Amino acid sequence: MKKKIAILPGDGIGREIASGAAAALEAVGKRFGHEFELEYADIGGAAIDSHGTPLPESTLALAKNSDAILLGAVGGLKWDSLPSAERPERGLLAIRKELGLFANLRPIPSFKTLVQSSPLKPEIAGNVNMLIVRELTGGLYFGKPSERRGDNNEVVVDTLQYTRAEIERIVVKAFEFAKARDGRLTSVDKANVLESSRMWREIVNEKAADYPDVTVDHMYVDAAAMKLISNPGQFDVIVTENLFGDILSDEASMITGSLGMLPSASLSESGLGLYEPVHGSAPDIAGQNKANPLAMILSTALMLKYSLDMRLEGESIERAVQSVLNDGYCTPDLQMEGSTVVGTDKMIELVIERVADDAPAYADEVV
Ligand code: NAD
Ligand code: IPM
Ligand code: MN
Repeated sequence: MKKKIAILPGDGIGREIASGAAAALEAVGKRFGHEFELEYADIGGAAIDSHGTPLPESTLALAKNSDAILLGAVGGLKWDSLPSAERPERGLLAIRKELGLFANLRPIPSFKTLVQSSPLKPEIAGNVNMLIVRELTGGLYFGKPSERRGDNNEVVVDTLQYTRAEIERIVVKAFEFAKARDGRLTSVDKANVLESSRMWREIVNEKAADYPDVTVDHMYVDAAAMKLISNPGQFDVIVTENLFGDILSDEASMITGSLGMLPSASLSESGLGLYEPVHGSAPDIAGQNKANPLAMILSTALMLKYSLDMRLEGESIERAVQSVLNDGYCTPDLQMEGSTVVGTDKMIELVIERVADDAPAYADEVV
């Protein structure tokens, strides 16, 4: 059956890497006999320019009427002086909220062949397979009231609000993932200071009773930031609130050596999913054919697995990426001695060639 995919390239390198997602889908379609209907729409700065708003109604309608959504990245210098309510990033926050995408999954594996591109020692970076489960539609990002500056611009307020239900649903999601993985859940909070974290911790302890096979520990976010560097191998699933998850996942990307390697999946209760790289629009390298498209391509693999029930197809993309890296190709962000440095276009081409050539045994399993 034909699957309708919304592609929202956004800004900066988002536009360059989105073509990698489309090419990967085309290759999977040919290889496995699926039809994907790709429809494009603007979000972020591109949408401000074309529609006067970072999330046009038409983009939201397309997203709602699609089987899944792929998003590049938003933001850029051109829109940086706009008030926060009008910025490109608002489009991203709004689509997450409107679609109820509360569960953001950010898997961080060690790619064995990339171990020398990590600034961490190989024995530390080489044995990691963690999943950060980040709450995505609450917390400081969505506080009310927001942007209060007082009458004379002399005071500013941001509020960190969560309801019990919002915490419960993300915690349950994380327990489910931990149960299906290695059975270890680390809840990251700041319960020594924040009331929201105290409630978060209580809820994790309550829910733990339903998951006797999952080992739970609690860690303060400052200590977690340190442990991610000193001993990342200790983590299986991390669950945390919106802002902590944002910061910790960029930090954790250095285990792989580049932010350009991390994909993400954002899931709702209704089952609709949006897939985007963890990184942003990288204005410093935009338009130079230097962006690493692998986070976007791996996000496409997550989409196939989580939203379209196409596990083997998703795995064929993941294997293709691994095979290109094993053969010593990399983009400039992955500083690997002795490797062949290629641009965005070439990297996309190498991956899709390998999706097409993937081991026939996998196709047989699908039939
Ligand atoms: P960034 O993630 O865009 O870039 C941080 C650094 O990582 C830069 O040096 C960049 O060149 C590098 N980098 C990121 N992705 C890369 C890739 N695929 N290949 C190679 N190098 C890559 O973060 P920033 O510079 O702090 O923010 C730039 C803009 O992006 C801002 O407007 C910000 O709000 C926005 N942003 C958007 C998203 C998103 O759309 N999901 C995420 C983060 C930041
Ligand atoms: C991310 C980004 C966004 C976030 C910004 C651009 C709003 O950093 O997706 O990680 O903070 O969620
Ligand atoms: Mn971020």
